[in-house]
Amino acid sequence: MEILSVEHLTRVFGSGEGTVRALDDVSLSIEAGEFIAIVGSSGSGKSTLLHLMGGVDRPTSGTVRLMGEDIYRRTDEQLAIFRRREVGLIYQFNNLIPILSARENITLPALLDGRAVNENRLAELADALGLDGRMNHLPSQLSGGQQQRVAIARALMNAPAVILADEPTGNLDSRNSAEVMGLLRESSERFKQTLVVITHDEDIALMADRVIAIEDGRVASDARRT
Ligand SMILES: Nc1ncnc2c1ncn2[C@@H]1O[C@H](COP(=O)(O)OP(=O)(O)OP(=O)(O)O)[C@@H](O)[C@H]1O
Ligand SMILES: [Mg+2]
Repeated sequence: MEILSVEHLTRVFGSGEGTVRALDDVSLSIEAGEFIAIVGSSGSGKSTLLHLMGGVDRPTSGTVRLMGEDIYRRTDEQLAIFRRREVGLIYQFNNLIPILSARENITLPALLDGRAVNENRLAELADALGLDGRMNHLPSQLSGGQQQRVAIARALMNAPAVILADEPTGNLDSRNSAEVMGLLRESSERFKQTLVVITHDEDIALMADRVIAIEDGRVASDARRT
């Protein structure tokens, strides 16, 4: 079953001489439960694509559909709700809120939605991500890797249908990196989530069901592993 589809997606930044065509007519169909690695050189358009799939930007042209629905038909307010409920986005450079503790950052989407915090899930994630004893710290009191793990916990907290992760292990050493990837896969299997991970790490790309290479804003290759 298709869960996410991208059709003729183009994103142009700037105007006149400074125009950058970050994504150029990209089309993709993603099946529910797939684990996809997105690879490509720096500046090729990977983050731009992930942001558009997560409802954090708007395309210049083309569509992004989640379960058949064109997400960019929504108003900005509806899109904010979409981001809190339907996708778990882990940004390349973590965007934690500096004045909130780890716990508050992780539970903010639920609180904004007026939902109760699932304490069991929170404790489980804190344990699995090695954040026990760090939950009351502010981001500035955490290491880069710990901050990234807080961002991962926030994305996984409400078990969204689609997890979109932009270099989730970029700040982690190899041991922590293997643990974080293990957790993402475990979560995706348990909750039947679709997992899209941008990575420069060969080992992670090798774990994926499918590897999509982006070059110059276009799909250069798209290979399913058998
Ligand atoms: N807000 C923006 N304004 C102008 N140009 C942008 C903006 N965001 C991205 N770009 C440009 O779009 C292109 C694609 O950027 P993107 O962040 O998607 O690359 P990337 O593949 O994620 O690279 P990296 O591996 O370095 O993270 C780059 O040339 C970048 O400079
Ligand atoms: Mg990027």
